[in-house]
Order: sequence, then C-alpha cells, then structure tokens
Amino acid sequence: MCGIVGFTGSTAASPVLIEGLRRLEYRGYDSAGVAVQRNGQLRLVHRMGKVAGLAEAVEQEQLEGTCGIGHTRWATHGRPSTANAHPHTSCDGRIAVVHNGIIENYVELKEELEADGHRFTSQTDTEVAAHLIEAAYAQTPDLVEAVRAATQRMAGAYGLAVISADEPGAIVVTRKDSPIVIGMGPDGARVASDVIALIDATRDVTVMADGELAKLSPTEITYYNAAGQVVDPKITHIDWDIDVAEKGGYPDFMLKEIHEQPRVIRDTLAGRLVDGTLAIDELDLSVEELNLIDRVYVIACGTSYHAGLIAKNLIEGWARIPTEVEVASEFRYRNPIITPTTLVVAVSQSGETADTLAAIRDARCKGAKVFGITNVIGSPVARESDGVIYTKANKEIAVASTKSFLGQVVSLTLLGLLLAQVKGKMRTNQIRLLFRELADTAAQVESILSDVSAIDEAALACKDASSALFIGRGMGAAISYEGALKLKEISYLHAEAYAAGEMKHGPIALLCDGFPVIAIATQSPVYDKVISNLQESKARGAMIVAVATEGDEEIRKHADHVIYIPKVRDCFSAITASVPLQLLARSIAVLRGCNVDQPRNLAKSVTVE
Ligand code: M6R
Repeated sequence: MCGIVGFTGSTAASPVLIEGLRRLEYRGYDSAGVAVQRNGQLRLVHRMGKVAGLAEAVEQEQLEGTCGIGHTRWATHGRPSTANAHPHTSCDGRIAVVHNGIIENYVELKEELEADGHRFTSQTDTEVAAHLIEAAYAQTPDLVEAVRAATQRMAGAYGLAVISADEPGAIVVTRKDSPIVIGMGPDGARVASDVIALIDATRDVTVMADGELAKLSPTEITYYNAAGQVVDPKITHIDWDIDVAEKGGYPDFMLKEIHEQPRVIRDTLAGRLVDGTLAIDELDLSVEELNLIDRVYVIACGTSYHAGLIAKNLIEGWARIPTEVEVASEFRYRNPIITPTTLVVAVSQSGETADTLAAIRDARCKGAKVFGITNVIGSPVARESDGVIYTKANKEIAVASTKSFLGQVVSLTLLGLLLAQVKGKMRTNQIRLLFRELADTAAQVESILSDVSAIDEAALACKDASSALFIGRGMGAAISYEGALKLKEISYLHAEAYAAGEMKHGPIALLCDGFPVIAIATQSPVYDKVISNLQESKARGAMIVAVATEGDEEIRKHADHVIYIPKVRDCFSAITASVPLQLLARSIAVLRGCNVDQPRNLAKSVTVE
C-alpha cells in the first residue's frame, strides 16, 4: 500500500526521493508526491498515476533542495486524486506531512481543527496530522515536540515523516503500527517505510518501534522514546542484496521470483537438522511446552492462508494435533476457543497485514502462544509474536506471492515435523528421511523450471476463457485454492477452486464445451477419485489441464493438456505442484497483456483492515 521516503543530506533530495519511490512502486499506489525544503520555503509536486509522471514533473519544476519527503498513495480516505495525494500541508504551507496508515478519529479532529479556523484542502485523514502539528508548533516551536504532541491526539495507525520550512535540514518521523526504517548513508540520512528504498545507501538500519520518534539531519539521527527522552537506536543489519530490486534479465519480477524458489527451499532448510534432530530455536518454547500444545490455529490472509491449508494436512497428519486454518479477518471477530495450550501460527509474507496483526493481538490477549512466520525481519508480526520463523525468500517485489509462499510452505512443513518429533508421533529416522526428501524438492522444482513448454501450451489454450475451475482433493484441494488465486489476481480471468468431490454439488453446472478445468492429479491416495472427477468434467465438455506425476500415462486419456512434475511424496506435493500453477497464471496473464508485477487494485502489503 502507501510508501514513505525521506532524505536530508549533502546532495539534491529530489533524485533520491524519486528513486526511493520507484523502489516502493511494487507495493501498489494510485498517486505520488514530494515536498522539498529550500531557502525557508517548502515546494510540493503531486501527480496522479505512476512515479515516472511525478519524476517528469519534478524535473520541470526544478525542485532544488537537499531535504525532502515523498509518498506513494493507495487511496483509503478520499478517492485517488491530485488533491488527495501526499504530502499534505498546514494552512500556512510551512509544514508538510506524508503518512501511511489510517487516523481513525480524523473526523472528530477535523471538526475541532476547522472550528479553530484550520482550512482543509483534501478529503484525506492524513491532512489532520499536518494541521495538528501546525497547532502544536504554534505553541512550542520545536518539530519533534510538535509531532509528539500531535500524535498523542491521533488514534489508529501511522507512519509519519514531517518537514517544516522553519527547521532547515530536519525530518521528524514517528510511527504506530506502520513500519518506518531509518539509516545513515554516505551522503545523508534516509527514512522509508520499507528498507528496499534505502538499502543502496546503507544496510545498517533502525526499524523504529511504536511510539518512538527520530529527528534526521544531514549528519546525525537522534532517537526519542514516546516520552521525548533521547534513546539509543537498535541497529539491524540487512543481509540481502539490492539486486533483489532488479529483474536480473527476467522480463518481470514474478518470473524472477518463481525461479528463485529452489534457493528459497535450500536456505529455509539450512541448519535445521542438527545431529539428526530438527531444530527451530527461534520458536523460543521448550520441548515440554511444545509437547503440551493440543490445538493449533493457523491465521493468515490470501496466499498465506493457502499455505495454512497445506499446513493443516501436515500437522494433523503427522503430529495428530487438531488444526484450524482461518482467515485473520474472521478470526479476529469471532470468539475462538483458546487456552494456554493453544498455539496460534500467524503467517504473513509482509509481516504487516493489518488483519493478521489484529488477530495476533487478540490471540495473545486470550492466552495463546503465537508463532509468526514472516519474510520481513523486524516486521510487526515478528515483533508481536512469541517466536518467529523467518522464511528465507528475501524481498519479494511482485505483488503476487510466489517464492514467499513456497518459503511459508517449507517453514510450516518444518513446524509440522517438529511437532511430530516432540509429540513422539514419528521416529527419528522417519523424520530424517522426510527431511531429506523435503530438501530434494529444491532440485525437483529446478527440473520443473527447466522446461515450461507444456505450461505455455496450456496457457495458450486457456487465455481466452472467461472463467476457470481449479480442482483437487486432499493436498490437491489446498494447492487448487492457491492456483485459482494466482490466476485471478494477475490475469483478471475469473477462477474458482473447489475440492473436486464438491463439483457435483454445484460448480459442475458451470461446465460447458471448452470450459477450463485445471486439476491437481498427482499420485496420491485420492488419485483414482480425482480421475473420476475428471471424467465427470470431460463428459460435460470441459477442457482439462492436469498437473500429473511423471510416468503417469493413464492421465493422458482424461486430460487435454498434461503438465508433468517429478514424483514426490503426497505431503510435499504442494511444493512441486504449486510451481506449474504459478507459471501457468503468469503465462496466461502475459498472453492477456496484463501487468504481471503490479495487478490493478492490489497492494503488496495490506496495512488497513
Ligand atoms: O503479507 P501477507 O502474507 O500477510 O499478505 C496476505 C495477502 O494479502 C497476500 O498473500 C495476497 O493474497 C497476495 N496478493 C497473494 O499473491
């Protein structure tokens, strides 16, 4: 969703801001803007649409100055428009603010500020922050204090970066439930809502904590706690490279990230089997505590939820612990049965999904232990969970999750094995064997990636369809849900997923000549049942695309297109079978002329409810 950048240093601010905003484009946005401070004035430029348009406008306007802030906006309060684009300013135009999050009490604050004579020019919640800071600055002309006083009035979530025409070279930032990272580069200090916007300047960053403030100047950064006292920052070293933000010869990030998956599997498993025993030390729970767990909830949204569906099969199958998978937006508003022996596993690529975070807080309040599985170091999910497993996907840029999904599935598989180990449901040599086979999936995914001709052929056959059905049973059903989501989000082709046995209870009515049915028909205990479902579909004219196991010649009798994948144990089939579905969705999207990396209306991190 929205993105924040800021720079104060010895060189021109605009190019740094524009480059930072470009790096944040992947998050999804509808408008963008910058404010730059110079000679006791602030100058602003806003544009609807892409950062490229803003860059042209900034060049034409010759925005000079070495201190500024910038923003990409994904509309929540007020439609996408130039007037609603950030930065927003105070009445006198001397304070400019960029904001991520939602100020929940903005209506009340706006009424109060208007009654005091403040004039608003946008429909946004953010603008109240600019006016509140203006009012506080009038009382105490110190930007840190004014921001601190203003945020004490604000309810909701905010990452804020603020500049004032009266404080040359200073950017004040603060946050609550919305990420802000800060770093000092060779040419000055930078702030951003995502480390990717400043990693080319420094890898040593401070991930701000809720309520903290910081004042950036060209040569130093001062941190304050919520009470306004100076505090020492906690520095985090980022160990991934900036080349994650480049396409590396691939036509789009999605394809690049799909190809990174063998590496993700290997990195996620590295160091996990110590002397033949599984080890996930980050969970921070003793074997005795783990042994007491008698119920698991996996909470997540979107693709991460689908990783949870896969985990349910594994945890119940291996560890024999009842496991529920719930979309976080529902979990948080129910009254789930939680006891001190309940384990809640919160899965989130970004680590900042608002619904997942709220569900974590709720679960912890009710006494559950919460494990986070996330891809982002220091993210809110990581900080607010009792223990965390980091997926080793590295930064994911394409909005459609691929490599982080695989990282989640592999991490959840490890968790399933660990629970089976501590519960004594599996022998050590069985666990070692499964671990080895799990590790082998990296090479199997490589082999799938080495020949995509059957996938491309199936994509051509599907590209003009208006709808598609994904089916499977058992693990295959869980994989189908993810396949359908991938297809609809990037190709805008309507797709639904069904447990294949449910077809005859409704969706079979959709089938007609040429209707694409994409089936997970790998070797599994329910293979024969899936074949029956394919026959039912074929009898109604459906065009069948089957993802099947190498060597299965029988499947050709039932399917129009077969995508073969290497033979794996059913419990690992989600890892291998998901990959052709990712590639299929991408190929169809490309054939339909869609922007694969930045699908319409979607944001990479969904930081609002
Ligand atoms: O960052 P999260 O994993 O919490 O995000 C959850 C969903 O928003 C996300 O998986 C979404 O469904 C993606 N667009 C899937 O490709």
